[in-house]
Amino acid sequence: MFESLKPVAGDPILGLMAAFRADNRDHKIDLGVGVYQDDSGRTPVMKSVKLAEAKLMELENTKAYQGIAGDAGYNQLMMALLFGADHSILNSDRLVTLQAPGGSGSLRVGAEVVQRARPDAKLWVGVPTWPNHIPLMGSAGFEIEEYPYYDKTTHSINIDAMMETLNQVPAGDVVLLHGCCHNPTGADLQPEHWDQIADIALERGFIPFIDIAYQGLGQGLDADAYGLRMMADRLPELLVASSCSKNFGLYRERTGSITLVAESAEQAKIVSAQSMSIARQIYSMPPAHGALLVSLILGDDQLRANWQAELEEVRLRIKSMRTLLTDGINDNAAGMDFSHIKQQQGMFSFLGITSDQLNRLRDEFAIYIVGSTRVNLAGINSNNIDYLTQSIRTVLDS
Ligand code: LMR
Repeated sequence: MFESLKPVAGDPILGLMAAFRADNRDHKIDLGVGVYQDDSGRTPVMKSVKLAEAKLMELENTKAYQGIAGDAGYNQLMMALLFGADHSILNSDRLVTLQAPGGSGSLRVGAEVVQRARPDAKLWVGVPTWPNHIPLMGSAGFEIEEYPYYDKTTHSINIDAMMETLNQVPAGDVVLLHGCCHNPTGADLQPEHWDQIADIALERGFIPFIDIAYQGLGQGLDADAYGLRMMADRLPELLVASSCSKNFGLYRERTGSITLVAESAEQAKIVSAQSMSIARQIYSMPPAHGALLVSLILGDDQLRANWQAELEEVRLRIKSMRTLLTDGINDNAAGMDFSHIKQQQGMFSFLGITSDQLNRLRDEFAIYIVGSTRVNLAGINSNNIDYLTQSIRTVLDS
């Protein structure tokens, strides 16, 4: 049977992570996979998570199945984190939230629900988007369409071209948007852009699907959720996939949620049953550990305050690395301007160098960057910044 399988290309991000791990050079730098590293280059377990784990060890008295939608307390707390505790949608009965395995599992459940509701709906993705969006959601059955997003020459969003395309999206199609900290570009929609997209969605009748995997890493927990909160106020239907991988550092615990906003409470009941039937078909039930930790943190004032302080530290560290990188490479002999890196948000930005330069960085200098030239700013620290900026300047200048 297996002789009929064809070789398949490795994942561009996870393949690079494996190559980095296999590299024996001591001075290697990982600017690839989107995982936070502190100033000593480690990805520590957050202190608030450690405290919640200790508490969980004490409190947990069963490993019995949780149920298809996961932990009800977690789902409530995630809704409040995403939409804000005072958002009117929380009391509307139009909201359905399921715990799901990471941001990816959440995206997949949402995609499958849309496919069941409207099998001919197309999914519109920005160019570029997180590379795994396309196989992950496309294999749920979506035909993929594209809208222009990032302009590599201006290093910013091509708003006019984006809006022009969105103005042509047919009713019933789905438009994928990044809630904040755009992956891979770091170029985020501003509140006025979100408002404009909501206007177009209302006029055209398409449904936004917001992927928010970095809440709190851009401008803060509330500011980063502007788009989804406003859209939940204004639009009849909406999907939101969220991840706790980055903001709680729970990467390997696969902790996420999918929220579906329906037009009425009656429809929400059916959406809930359909979403659960989909989850049951794919993975049956989500893993419990990460979600239980998040519940303990968000449900306890002190732990929550600790977590928010740690998250703020993460956010500010990444921001300061943006400044150090920009300042360290802007005076290159090639005259390239990297000021956009300082201005963008979240973990990533494009360097915008050539593939040859990128390959030289990896082969000669042991610096790992995704092929699109996406750098993970959180891989930079006070020990590697000088070597990194010198190496980039060397490949630019020669
Ligand atoms: C990334 O974009 O690097 C992360 O979201 C990890 C992944 O799964 O690709």
